[in-house]
Amino acid sequence: MIRRVAGLLGLGLLLAAGGASAEPRSSPVEACAYCHGADGIARDTEVPHLAGQNERYLFNQMLAFKSGKRVHKEMRYLARQMSTEEIGALAAYYASLPPR
Ligand code: HEC
Repeated sequence: MIRRVAGLLGLGLLLAAGGASAEPRSSPVEACAYCHGADGIARDTEVPHLAGQNERYLFNQMLAFKSGKRVHKEMRYLARQMSTEEIGALAAYYASLPPR
């Protein structure tokens, strides 16, 4: 719990610092941070880093999860709740973060 709160605080600082032009409207970023890290760097070895990844790649992977072409239960569930616009904003946001 403490770790989760710290993560969300970190995200707030990050968004404030970066101006966050690519910040998605409804900020599902908080839902992603739980697994992928507030800074796009995953703490769990089973979860890929998103920070600094190619924007087009992230976008395509999210669409593949959404359509079921790429199979993963949690990612499919999340991607299905999102519009193409939200996915585009998230892809731009994570691509803009500094890689590890
Ligand atoms: C419950 C944990 C969890 C949450 C929450 C989560 N992800 Fe993921 N995500 C994963 C895992 C695990 C994978 C690796 C899937 C695989 O093995 O194919 C993944 C893969 C991805 C990939 C593909 C990365 C690559 O290198 O191919 C993208 C893009 C992604 N997630 C974006 C997001 C976004 C955006 C959100 C928030 C809306 C999110 N994820 C929320 C666990 C999560």
